[in-house]
Amino acid sequence: MNIIKCPVCGKKSEKKDKTYICVNHHSFDIAKQGYTNFLLNNDKKSKEPGDTKEMLNARKNFLDKGYYKFILEQVKNTIISDITDAQNNSVNLNVIDVGCGEGYYLSGMINDIDEAVKNTGAHYYGVDISKEGIRLAALRNENVEWFAANSFNLPFVDNCFDYIISMFSILDTKECSRVLKNNGKIIFVTAQKEHLKELKEIIYPVLTEKKYEAENLHGCDIIKSTDYLSKVMIESNHDLWNLLSMTPHFWKAEEKNKLLLNDHDSLEVTININIKVLN
Ligand SMILES: C[S@@+](CC[C@H](N)C(=O)[O-])C[C@H]1O[C@@H](n2cnc3c(N)ncnc32)[C@H](O)[C@@H]1O
Ligand SMILES: [Zn+2]
Repeated sequence: MNIIKCPVCGKKSEKKDKTYICVNHHSFDIAKQGYTNFLLNNDKKSKEPGDTKEMLNARKNFLDKGYYKFILEQVKNTIISDITDAQNNSVNLNVIDVGCGEGYYLSGMINDIDEAVKNTGAHYYGVDISKEGIRLAALRNENVEWFAANSFNLPFVDNCFDYIISMFSILDTKECSRVLKNNGKIIFVTAQKEHLKELKEIIYPVLTEKKYEAENLHGCDIIKSTDYLSKVMIESNHDLWNLLSMTPHFWKAEEKNKLLLNDHDSLEVTININIKVLN
């Protein structure tokens, strides 16, 4: 079933050759890399919204080394065990990663989800406001429909998704609830207090306490909430810089403190995340 909505008029947008087009003739070309730019001027606060090219490349290089495979595995297992527990027999499960960045997580879980739903099939969608992120994501996997779009104005019809994944990104629960099926689930992943504490101890002279339960989950019920803790050894100074560059700490920490990272050729860091299943 076609679930794509024209970002201009809200009518269904059909894929015809290399274009998405609605009855009102609003058309959007599918780029040769396989993604579609659905961003309208009022979706953007700047010319290049979202994470920068440098942050995305740093993230891609870091994630491709497998340092966050633990996180990928936990999110994937959460979805697969929910599919199994709920005996979700939806034909053609629709799964979306909102704020997918350069696509590491969604691309890395679809083979196993496909295996879990092999009798019924699944369709995958990735959305990010950063065109560069979506361009990189499209290079990872051509079996996902990748869209540059705003998560506050998703180009999808109401009640169409079985799973919405939101990892380390802003979650608009109102918009997500609109596109979620009645029995659909949101998989919401956030960093917790201990996350990267060893890195933070290097780049901040004084660590300030961040409030971690501040997410606004208005309108959503928490079905399950699980904290995860693990350690990973970052094996080079280059990878440590990539890790720093893909996080907001790169902008927050002072230059002279960031340079202290150069004293480290490797570092064991804590991974501390929470995964909530919402509906
Ligand atoms: C911290 S990154 C996380 C990326 C990816 N989920 C991951 O964990 O690797 C946050 C992402 O949200 C995207 N983003 C920020 N505002 C957005 C919006 N309004 N709509 C869609 N994506 C947005 C950024 O471009 C960035 O890729
Ligand atoms: Zn239209």
